[in-house]
Amino acid sequence: MANDALVAAALAVRENAWAPFSNFRVGAAIEDETGRIFTGCNVENATYGLTVCAERVAVFKAISEGARKFRRVVVAADTDTLTPPCGACRQILWEFCGDVELTLVNLHGKTETFHMRDLFPRPFDATFLG
Ligand code: THU
Repeated sequence: MANDALVAAALAVRENAWAPFSNFRVGAAIEDETGRIFTGCNVENATYGLTVCAERVAVFKAISEGARKFRRVVVAADTDTLTPPCGACRQILWEFCGDVELTLVNLHGKTETFHMRDLFPRPFDATFLG
């Protein structure tokens, strides 16, 4: 896992994080069903509330490039306790990636892998809209 391309992509894009307010840098990488990789970093804003997390940047980049089905997500941050996606990102990840495999990594090679259904139980999604 430590050498895999998706982990490397998440760690690399983290370097691009625009985080002058929190100094908390996050990278995310998503692999679609064909093996294409899409990346995102957090992009902060002086109004704070307009900040977008790395995960959502990666998902929106992927969707806007035409990708539709995803098999893996990696989130990279520099924390000993691995950084999980926030609630808003869990909703977005569920909606676009479903019960995808999600791996958290830090800069020291620590990793932990989950399935989205475990991080986001009993979701609200399009099935409720009829
Ligand atoms: N952040 C992410 O990009 N992803 C996460 O999983 C957690 C939080 C960002 C948002 C903000 O720029 C900074 O980290 C501090 O919350």
